[in-house]
Amino acid sequence: MSEIRETVLELLAQLGSSREARQYLKEFSSVGESRFAVVKVGGGILLDHLDELASALAFLHRLGLRPVVLHGAGPQVDAALDNAGVESERIDGLRVTTEDVMAVARPVIYEQTMRLVDALEKRGIRARGIQHGIFRAKVLNREKYGLVGEITDIDLDPLERTIDAGALPVLTFLGESPSGQVLNINADVAARELVWAIKPHKIIFLTPAGGLLDRDGRVISAVSLTNDYDALMREPWVHSGMRLKLQQIHELLMGLDASASVSITSANQLTRELFTYRGAGTLVRRGEAIDLHEPPDDAVMDQVIERVESSFGRELREDWRDRLHKPAVLMSATGRAAAVVVEGAGSVPYLDKFVVTPEAQGEGLGAAMWQVLRARYPTMYWRSRNTNPITPWYFQQADTSDRKGKWVVFTIGIEEPDLRRQVVKEALRRDPGWAGEEGE
Ligand code: ARG
Repeated sequence: MSEIRETVLELLAQLGSSREARQYLKEFSSVGESRFAVVKVGGGILLDHLDELASALAFLHRLGLRPVVLHGAGPQVDAALDNAGVESERIDGLRVTTEDVMAVARPVIYEQTMRLVDALEKRGIRARGIQHGIFRAKVLNREKYGLVGEITDIDLDPLERTIDAGALPVLTFLGESPSGQVLNINADVAARELVWAIKPHKIIFLTPAGGLLDRDGRVISAVSLTNDYDALMREPWVHSGMRLKLQQIHELLMGLDASASVSITSANQLTRELFTYRGAGTLVRRGEAIDLHEPPDDAVMDQVIERVESSFGRELREDWRDRLHKPAVLMSATGRAAAVVVEGAGSVPYLDKFVVTPEAQGEGLGAAMWQVLRARYPTMYWRSRNTNPITPWYFQQADTSDRKGKWVVFTIGIEEPDLRRQVVKEALRRDPGWAGEEGE
């Protein structure tokens, strides 16, 4: 226990916030031991980033978390085939696996498993390469693909025994037929079937790019299947590889609990991705719907008030809700993100409250909420204290900003200067609605 504590402290010092780290450690430890995470590692990572990978996995292991590691060996197998002068072709995205190909590939794949296991054990972590008995398969089409297997069944027993023994399981994409013939299994299919069998809380893809990239080559922080998926799939810059990846992740997450998520990150960003709100990489979740309540009923208002009070750490006055002029509420399904819009000066919508819990922000729910808000209200204005951590972000979203004392007033879509002056003036006079504090 004390060793774990020390490790936690080391982690906290690294990342800066103990609250976040503790919250996620609790969350990840609350699911069954073998259900924390499946980590899919491409062969390229074993080639170029073995040290970072082993140290990130060892770290999780010391925290008492037992990720299941599934690794590939694509580049290593390609190189070995080249060396041996063995031809291999791909049909329908599957590597045609002749006896010759298998003879070259199998030892190379096992060697990669061993390298990872060795690297972990060098760090004092018990690890076990499980080379048989997980993926039961039958030959898919001997004439066409050779020794390529189709999974018929997954046996989690060897994996659970490994975890019970306190070791970290390392698997690869080989299966076997009932008679013991080793079969090559497509990496994406193996990952999907394993994930569906284990039903982990997190699925982690470690890639050199460290996430899904937007059109400018920057990592997209979060994707909500509910709010962003369709729009992303329509984007012309989403190339075919990324499209396929998104489709696969979509399919994967639809087969799991709504609380499951996929993180695409790199080996050296993994710890930050897992233990901070913001993460480092791309987080994909099913996400939650954002609904408009106009007018909001009492139950919705109760939820909003609770959220606002706990986010700002202060209480609203009793009559706050009754004094809202023609209110509308946007709220996400879990109530972790909400916006209250009222009719303001000159009938322009005024954004009275905007709250998103920090962890929902990390999931991209704040950005999703903002999009829905912008689509519904092409013109609006709002204000924020200059000490509010969200104020810098508002500067990026707004068309205009006016600073006055401790307030900044923002507007969007208001073209007429007179109207703009009018709403800015009115915003500064607004009653904030907190208890024990009249208009300031
Ligand atoms: N630490 C949390 C998790 O792993 C949130 C990560 C947020 N990541 C992101 N790329 N936005 O579930």
